[in-house]
Amino acid sequence: MRDHLESAGKLDRLLPDMTAWRRHLHMHPELSFQEKRTSAWIAERLREIGCDEVREGVGGTGVVAVIRGARPGPVVALRADIDALPIQDEKDVPYRSTVPGVMHACGHDAHTAALLGVAAHYAGAREGMAGERRLLFQPAEEVTPGGAIGMIEDGALDGVSAIYGVHVWTPLPFGTIASAPGPVMAAADDFHLEIKGKGGHGGMPQETIDAIAAGAAFVQAVQTIVSRSVDPLEPAVVTIGSFQAGSAPNIVAEVCRLSGTVRTFDPKVRALAQERLRGIADAVCRQFGASYEIDWLDGYPPVVNDGREAERFFTVARRLFGDGAVERMRPLMVCEDFAYYLERVPGCFMFVGAGNAACGAVHPHHHPRFDIDERAMLSTARLLVAMADHFAGEAASSGQ
Ligand code: NI
Repeated sequence: MRDHLESAGKLDRLLPDMTAWRRHLHMHPELSFQEKRTSAWIAERLREIGCDEVREGVGGTGVVAVIRGARPGPVVALRADIDALPIQDEKDVPYRSTVPGVMHACGHDAHTAALLGVAAHYAGAREGMAGERRLLFQPAEEVTPGGAIGMIEDGALDGVSAIYGVHVWTPLPFGTIASAPGPVMAAADDFHLEIKGKGGHGGMPQETIDAIAAGAAFVQAVQTIVSRSVDPLEPAVVTIGSFQAGSAPNIVAEVCRLSGTVRTFDPKVRALAQERLRGIADAVCRQFGASYEIDWLDGYPPVVNDGREAERFFTVARRLFGDGAVERMRPLMVCEDFAYYLERVPGCFMFVGAGNAACGAVHPHHHPRFDIDERAMLSTARLLVAMADHFAGEAASSGQ
């Protein structure tokens, strides 16, 4: 059962290619659901590499590549996301974004380049390989409803026995690898509330219904959802991220628009938070005599790692990177549409440390100066290959 390590070790020579690929993508980012040039470029690389099958237009702008091993075995899927963010790149590096206002500020370029490295590796390793590796280059991770659903509807998971995915992660130092069994990333729902009062003169409030006062009362009251309604041992976040109202000091605002996000893990807590939020909007607006409209947008479900697959992660990662490099992570309140794959097939989502002050990789994800230690791509590719080969080896030895 050690051959998955030897195989993963052979990826080292591919780091220069991965770096060049990542830098190309970094210079030419595209937003979610618009990744046309990106996916055409990925498909071109995959054909050059010599994959057995390259399918374009999967779930819109996704690409699926297939490489078949010489020996029979299961289908194992590996996934990278390919979209960028609406952020102006403020880095001073030769590979900075050439597209104004668009930037790979989350590291999806690195995921894509690492998975191309995995393709190149497998294309030269069919002899010793059991089963099929299906490589999913998924669009639109950053925008709900996300690109995963479309990929799944287009058959990306058909026949798949296990799936693995990685996020490079700058809050973790390069050299550290982390994951955990069970929920690792939260469900994330958004809401938009419009409170409609009655505008008027700031000096004659008795004639008005003040939408700002109602909005402020709403903001105060929703703080009690997490502090008073949710079980203290269950994680939950309610954030109001936007509050817009009013135009001048002497005018009572007629309309107040608020929006926010609700992050949870437990489906019951998720439902409770929504119910309480709607109830508070209703009660506050009645209290002020205002009317309102509320839109609730269901976001991604939580990312829940399979227990056995998380165990596989610890076994494989410790052998690959050493005991001291592997951490059992605490769940994060950010979200990922990898969740949809894990709802359908067992698998594991993993974090690869990419932070390193020596190469300027000190900024958080979605920051205008975000960058990574590019060696994290090699760790990513090695981890994905070792996980897939370990799963396939186990399936073969158990006669599946
Ligand atoms: Ni991301």
